[in-house]
Amino acid sequence: LYIGIDLGTSAVKLLLMNQDGKIEKIVSKEYPLYFPNPGWSEQNPDDWWNETLAGLRELTKGYDKNLIGGISFGGQMHGLVILDEDDRVIRPAILWNDGRSKKETEYLNNVIGQSNLSRYTGNIAFAGFTAPKILWVKENEPENFKKIRKIMLPKDYLAYKLSGVHCTDMSDASGMLLLDVKNKCWSQQMLHICGITADQVPSLYESYETVGTILPWIADELGFPESVKIVAGASDNAAAAVGTGTVGDGMCNISLGTSGTIFISSEKFSVDANNGLHAFAHGDGHYHLMGCMLSAASCNKWWMDEIIGTNDYKSEQNKISGLGENNVYFLPYLMGERSPHNNPNARGTFIGLTMDSTRADMTQAVLEGVAFAIRDSFEIAKSLGISIERTKICGGGAKSSLWKSMIANILGLKVDVIESEEGPGYGAAILAAVADSKYKTVEEAASKLVKIVETIEPNPQLVEKYDEKYRKFAKIYPCVKDLFE
Ligand code: XUL
Repeated sequence: LYIGIDLGTSAVKLLLMNQDGKIEKIVSKEYPLYFPNPGWSEQNPDDWWNETLAGLRELTKGYDKNLIGGISFGGQMHGLVILDEDDRVIRPAILWNDGRSKKETEYLNNVIGQSNLSRYTGNIAFAGFTAPKILWVKENEPENFKKIRKIMLPKDYLAYKLSGVHCTDMSDASGMLLLDVKNKCWSQQMLHICGITADQVPSLYESYETVGTILPWIADELGFPESVKIVAGASDNAAAAVGTGTVGDGMCNISLGTSGTIFISSEKFSVDANNGLHAFAHGDGHYHLMGCMLSAASCNKWWMDEIIGTNDYKSEQNKISGLGENNVYFLPYLMGERSPHNNPNARGTFIGLTMDSTRADMTQAVLEGVAFAIRDSFEIAKSLGISIERTKICGGGAKSSLWKSMIANILGLKVDVIESEEGPGYGAAILAAVADSKYKTVEEAASKLVKIVETIEPNPQLVEKYDEKYRKFAKIYPCVKDLFE
């Protein structure tokens, strides 16, 4: 048995996979998300740990625990977790969708300079990345900064609690803006720029490498054997890509989770002149390019829960009449935006309302707005000469067939639906199985385990209509941008 832990923004999802790759059980445990100021976003790492521990107990209840071979992770990226000399958490984690470090991001991009950053790391600075947050703590909380003994990412805190090892993996470390992604080592220049030293960052592993075994007291408490391997794991996007079989060269995965991402796997490291897409390491030992929008399924959740006041998303979406006919547009920038605008101050907007606009038109605009925003990143990939014809899809939003069909038609891609949408959790369990030598490589495991059950083909007439609508969508942000300063 292998356990994949997907440490998300709204919940931790734990998945139990058997040796044939079948999902035996899934357990989900929620924890709070705090917005102490507009655009800030924090969580308490001990909430992650307590819910994970409770989840592990619940997940394995009734199974022969002696069969558990390994545990691995897929984690929300970029979050800054800082520990003191006693390995205690110094302050709440500052998350991937936190926009407080605008000033530090501008300092990195404009004073250090984008071309230097790109040379050191393969990427430029975005407010959500870890390095600008380190600078923010240094500037705004000098007392906390002085106490820092170890810096790590969210899922690495779980690996540390389970194994006692301060570790991270290449895919997640890529999003810190501290890693020389191409050469897979810490960038001495970036450590220096952030005022930290090499002993404050964790040891680097490939995602499928074992960092240690479970600590005896935890094994004892959970009734697990002490031989259970703790495996480095990957960023949630890289783990999701493993879990959807998006490995090797030129494969694509779209994730409609709290964030929305388009992920293109690549055997070789590459970076474009404008750093339009993130150039990161992958969980299969290679690389990927990725565009990330900060609010995807969370826009739909906000619209349904806060504005309409329903939890029956499906019947609300069923009220939508036709695709390609809607004249209402929605900019999905409820937490600011990363790709492609790099503007933490961007905000959500409805445009094009008339007296006969209906609630269904607005629901549709929200779903389409997210798909158009993902297309923004897809357009960058196309401009780099990358040719993609099909994509996998995962995340909570992938449960909606309407949304999947919008993705197919707005991006003009064939959408391969796989047996399970449990991207990161399943990918993490696969990484644990590879570390336990069940498979030789991540590619081999993914090709044997991931099954496509349906393909949604784009409809040429709809693709044409949506092309025209996308051109209009793309004109809106530049017109309203100045309102968001
Ligand atoms: C990727 C990103 C998000 C988080 C969500 O760069 O910030 O996709 O990983 O958990």
